[in-house]
Amino acid sequence: ETVDLADEDYQLGEFPDFMRKEMAEQPEAVRRALRGRLDTRFATARLGGLRLDPRDLRAVRRVKFLGCGTAYYAGQVGANLVEELARIPADAEPASEFRYRNPVVDPDTLYVAISQSGETLDTLAAVQELKRKGGNVIGAVNVVGSAVARECGSGVFLHAGPEVSVASTKAYTNMAVSFAMLALWLGRVRDLSAHHGTRLVTAMQQLPEQIASILETDYEVAAIARKYAHAKHMFFIGRVRGWPVAREGAQKLKEISYVHAEAYQAAELKHGPLALIDAEMPSVVVVPQDELLAKNIGTIEQIKARGGPVIVVTNADLPDGLADAVLRVPRNEPELDPILLTIPLQMLAYHVASALGRDIDKPRNLAKSVTVE
Ligand code: G6P
Repeated sequence: ETVDLADEDYQLGEFPDFMRKEMAEQPEAVRRALRGRLDTRFATARLGGLRLDPRDLRAVRRVKFLGCGTAYYAGQVGANLVEELARIPADAEPASEFRYRNPVVDPDTLYVAISQSGETLDTLAAVQELKRKGGNVIGAVNVVGSAVARECGSGVFLHAGPEVSVASTKAYTNMAVSFAMLALWLGRVRDLSAHHGTRLVTAMQQLPEQIASILETDYEVAAIARKYAHAKHMFFIGRVRGWPVAREGAQKLKEISYVHAEAYQAAELKHGPLALIDAEMPSVVVVPQDELLAKNIGTIEQIKARGGPVIVVTNADLPDGLADAVLRVPRNEPELDPILLTIPLQMLAYHVASALGRDIDKPRNLAKSVTVE
């Protein structure tokens, strides 16, 4: 799967640009990622390319996700999923930091190198550093035969299909879906119950349809985007499950619209950034229907009390009039919320960028894959 703009199989067709096409392809891309990997009988998932048997999976004491840009944020989603479902410590770090800080490489940690292109130099260098120190590293890569895929030897292919737009959309979603399967697998060889496993398998099977239904809200998202496109700055606020979603939402907006966006953890707002809130500073708040709902409503009230406009992306029932604009996604198992909640933020960034007349597929100063220092 090489990305060749002249490839007859990968033309724009009816779409104005590749980002829009790639967002629209997400239901199909997720279907491909799930195909043959879910096991309803044993209420689990299995990623054959990892070549790990149950004993190997049990030996994993920690998981560390490494990647750059959007791949790093997908890694944060993955780390949360692994901690939630498998109850083993997990985190994500930019591959570029890891490679330069003489990292402690632990033999009982499973390292996951994430890259759409498989050619990002910093991610490749992190893999090489891991291998030099005897670390156990697998790839989560979209492009088959790429440098990271070859260097890792084993891993999970993302099956997102070619991604041309500099801003990553379907690859991100397939990364998150792949990590949900990895987390389920790690969980089911530990203490995650068959009942919980079955709920998650069913939930994952529903994702393509649910993503398609979010894409159908395009008209509403575009209207909200036009309303806020004049903003010079925007906050993206989330906590726990919503935190990597906020970071990826801010990333998308920065990349393609050039609007300054900053992601912040909800509870940290009061330690500084609240000082910036006024009528000219909209906040996009990620509000999953989970045990932190009341906390997130409190955050929104704090922002509103300072005159800040609030856009929520949510699957929760919120009090009428709480937010100035609502981006809605369907409910699923709460662990999977980050996957669905990110889609409207891709759409929001897309429509802000198009309202501002940006070159969406080729934002200034950026490259699709960064193969140099
Ligand atoms: C570049 C792109 C980003 C991408 C990052 C990692 O910075 O502009 O969209 O997330 O590289 O790319 P990778 O191919 O390694 O996932």
